[in-house]
Amino acid sequence: MIERIVNSEAGEDENTEQTEVTLRPRDFTSYIGQENAKRNLRLAIQAAQKRGEAIDHVLLHGPPGLGKTTLAGVIAREMGTNLRVTSGPAIERAGDLASLLTNIEDGDILFIDEIHRLPRSVEEVLYPAMEDFRLDIMVGKGPSARSLQLDLPAFTIIGATTRVGSLSAPLRDRFGMVHRLEFYTHQEMVEILHRSGSIIGIAVASEAADEIARRARLTPRVANRLLRRVRDLADVKGDGSLTQDIAREALTMLEIDELGLDGADRMLLSTIIENHNGGPVGIDTIAALVSEERTTIEDVYEPYLMQIGFLERTPRGRRVSAQAYRHLDYDTGDNPALV
Ligand SMILES: Nc1ncnc2c1ncn2[C@@H]1O[C@H](COP(=O)(O)OP(=O)(O)OP(=O)(O)O)[C@@H](O)[C@H]1O
Ligand SMILES: [Mg+2]
Repeated sequence: MIERIVNSEAGEDENTEQTEVTLRPRDFTSYIGQENAKRNLRLAIQAAQKRGEAIDHVLLHGPPGLGKTTLAGVIAREMGTNLRVTSGPAIERAGDLASLLTNIEDGDILFIDEIHRLPRSVEEVLYPAMEDFRLDIMVGKGPSARSLQLDLPAFTIIGATTRVGSLSAPLRDRFGMVHRLEFYTHQEMVEILHRSGSIIGIAVASEAADEIARRARLTPRVANRLLRRVRDLADVKGDGSLTQDIAREALTMLEIDELGLDGADRMLLSTIIENHNGGPVGIDTIAALVSEERTTIEDVYEPYLMQIGFLERTPRGRRVSAQAYRHLDYDTGDNPALV
């Protein structure tokens, strides 16, 4: 598969890479945007602190790269508690969860990334733990098996997922707060670029920030990645300062158009237009046509294409909009449904 520069998912070592770590906002003040989630979380944190309790369990969902993991870190820091990090697929058995929970201290936050991938047997142990801070597990096997109950300190689970629809209803119901992270506004993207620029030590001219922001798919992870690539060109070509011309040239070289679409997006849309007259067409057919996993299309391609109104979900499948036809220079007249 081709490596996509505008992929909103984290790259191989992007979550551990030093620059990426330093770019991560640590508190609410540097965490730009997501005002609604921030307002609610701030209030919950203040109330919990006043009562001397742990905050309620939090579920964060939304497309990759919008700041779920970052926000979990911010919450822990604002609460002044430890953050322990794990993920759904890493907890294979109930025993794995039990050993995590028995090591937890009063008020700690356990961050479970990709929480939709928790095995069902683990989920069942998680319910009483979340509800009553009680661990209920079976130890041993066969006739000597017995159930063990343990009281846990008050703690908080922060779950993150790109696919909230795949979460079981009972698990979802155990979160006191559920926040959907939204795509950022253009203005917020510009702010993020200026902030990141100052951290990596490059002055980003405001026209350059504007240029990058327009192509960053309203997603901070993509903005930071583009910024690094544009900086490379600024270092090589110019005096290291990031002007609009340099930004434009670098982004053109990367074949990202003025809406942030790359070759893969354009192929997906033109395939639906050419082979299915714009749709509606089923997601599995699209996946087969563009040789991608269905989940990649749903999690990575679609959210942004829907956000900008290029793709619609209908009961009979996906449909390309008239706007997308025009953007890709197709004649909408060929499709009577679009006029
Ligand atoms: N609100 C924000 N303000 C500034 N930068 C942000 C913000 N949110 C995220 N970022 C930047 O974007 C990067 C990606 O964010 P993060 O890893 O938190 O996304 P995510 O939602 O957890 O993605 P995934 O679904 O792939 O786990 C972060 O490293 C951070 O630098
Ligand atoms: Mg994450």
